[in-house]
Amino acid sequence: MSAPRTLLITGISRRIGAHLAEHYLALGDRVIGTYRHETETLQALRARGLHAIRADLALPDSIPPLVEAIATHTPRLDAIVHNASIWPSDADCARDPGLIAQLYQLHVTTPVNLTLALHQRLPPPEPVNGRATRSVVFLTDAKVSAGNLGFIHYLASKAAAESAMRSLALTLAPHTRVNAIAPGLILFHPQDHAEKRAARLAMNLLPFEPGASVIADSVDYLLQCPAVTGTTLRVDAGLQLLNPSVRDD
Ligand SMILES: NC(=O)c1ccc[n+]([C@@H]2O[C@H](COP(=O)([O-])OP(=O)(O)OC[C@H]3O[C@@H](n4cnc5c(N)ncnc54)[C@H](OP(=O)(O)O)[C@@H]3O)[C@@H](O)[C@H]2O)c1
Repeated sequence: MSAPRTLLITGISRRIGAHLAEHYLALGDRVIGTYRHETETLQALRARGLHAIRADLALPDSIPPLVEAIATHTPRLDAIVHNASIWPSDADCARDPGLIAQLYQLHVTTPVNLTLALHQRLPPPEPVNGRATRSVVFLTDAKVSAGNLGFIHYLASKAAAESAMRSLALTLAPHTRVNAIAPGLILFHPQDHAEKRAARLAMNLLPFEPGASVIADSVDYLLQCPAVTGTTLRVDAGLQLLNPSVRDD
């Protein structure tokens, strides 16, 4: 059996982040998770061994104490998953312009600066036969290239995260691999009504709600495959094939 890994996952209080934390705890790995709001899900994860650290990652000042808390807890960090996110509409951003700065801080600046600060404070071991010893994964969005009506700021910030991912891959090689997952529809929100669900499913070549396990499968792949860095893995159920404007090329 391989040694347990230590993963940092941001935004583990619910949905995809919570599922990732549960998945890696079930594999026997050590999981450090950041959260903003207390939830029952979080309490259940703590009971299974999660080390939870409270941090509002939209605040630039959150990074130094978070790095110290992680370095105090562990001498080893194998992976970082930048999952924490907000998705305000343009109308939300017009009502509260501060959300625009939060989008870039949460999706770009904090993940980049946190990754770099941890590289300094908790350096990854030397590469083994050229293989990186740390892996970083950004969660972006399958619609970053095509855009989406009503979500200019959200998608622009996720596009910036993909660019930052590639620059970090260049900066941190060969010690660290850096990749992104660009999800299409993964999980509906409870308030999504039947008509909205049907319309969204009809955009996919594979018309089902995939669920958070497909993101765990994708993170597993990116953590395991030693030759992949600077890459975005689309997990979009064929969205781009039925909707050519969503394609990257
Ligand atoms: N679900 C999908 O179908 C889908 C589709 C495309 C892309 N994605 C991407 O996949 C990732 C996970 O999606 P999801 O649906 O699970 O997201 P979600 O339900 O919106 O959860 C986001 C998480 O981020 C945390 N968060 C938000 N603002 C934060 C802040 N300022 N500081 C720290 N944490 C903060 C939230 O914590 P609090 O609740 O405590 O605020 C929550 O745990 C996101 O990056 C999302 O953009 C998801």
